[in-house]
Amino acid sequence: MSSYDLTRFLAADHFSHALRHDVQHGLTASPKTLPPKWFYDTRGSELFEEITRLPEYYPTRAERGILMSRARAIAAITQARTLVELGSGSSEKTRLLLDALRELGTLETYVPVDVSESALDAAGKALAVEFPSLAVHAVVSDFTHGLDLPTGPGPKIVAFLGGTLGNLLPEERAEFLSALRGMLDPGDFLLLGTDLVKDPKVLVAAYDDTAGVTAAFNKNVLAVLNRELDADFDPAQFEHVALWDARQEWIEMRLRSTRAQSVKIRALDLAVHFEAGEEMRTEVSAKFRRTRVADELSAAGLRLSEWWTDSQGRFGLSLAVPR
Ligand code: SAH
Ligand code: AVI
Repeated sequence: MSSYDLTRFLAADHFSHALRHDVQHGLTASPKTLPPKWFYDTRGSELFEEITRLPEYYPTRAERGILMSRARAIAAITQARTLVELGSGSSEKTRLLLDALRELGTLETYVPVDVSESALDAAGKALAVEFPSLAVHAVVSDFTHGLDLPTGPGPKIVAFLGGTLGNLLPEERAEFLSALRGMLDPGDFLLLGTDLVKDPKVLVAAYDDTAGVTAAFNKNVLAVLNRELDADFDPAQFEHVALWDARQEWIEMRLRSTRAQSVKIRALDLAVHFEAGEEMRTEVSAKFRRTRVADELSAAGLRLSEWWTDSQGRFGLSLAVPR
């Protein structure tokens, strides 16, 4: 018998307060920045799904390839009764894991966690129908804001797929991985997807596609600010920028003001001036090497126990355990 519910884990006004704080702070800083979690309203989540189908955007296909060949091994190693997934989005690749765990017969509970209620709710409802013996407990939350989430019976896998770890800055990643370590009991596992360092041309193309979908995704954050904070950004006056920072080993997405302009953010009673050519950072997407993944896990009290890549070595999937 299928079962599905959705819990809004944070206080009703959490997201509006957090957005106000991030915009006030980020747009009065120099250089200007916005955290990437604000991309994901209904439209942003749809645009992300479109990105995953672009010829240039290899990470989703590469990670799916790894899961296709390794999902059974992951099921056999973990024997998981609960799968928690952070930043689950459409849960599209997760079906491979759910299938393997269903075949093994251990899985009882799936807990997808996302800021995007529309994506979460659509995926959760569909999965409850597709997996009738599974209890699906969807949770709307912000994984950078505490991880004392309701889960389910152990052993559990906490999955963080897609390379989303790379969207956190190094200090945020360390804090996040420590909080994640705190969610794990002995016998539990972290399943982590990380995009890997490679030819910058391949990387930049993945974030600056010829169809302009990533540009639309990037500019969507301006539409979110216009709607949620009564701002008057004109997206046509900003250009999408994607560049490879070789020192940090991350892709950086920015929005470049095409002219000098002043933008009003009425809900904050704030006017923000942009110089012609001024760039605002909207996302970093860090790319990893195996050693860096192992070291960052270790610093958070986790031990890398399995490491798999796709056949072209583009993407890494790790299984880690508490130390
Ligand atoms: N895991 C999926 C989706 C990746 S897109 C995949 O691999 O394809 C990143 C997802 O993380 C989006 O669904 C977005 O809404 C969610 N997300 C981003 N920041 C978040 C945060 N701080 N807390 C919770 N979810 C977040
Ligand atoms: C969700 N995250 C891993 C994506 C990435 O590749 O960093 C978000 C994205 N940004 C631009 N394209 C995709």
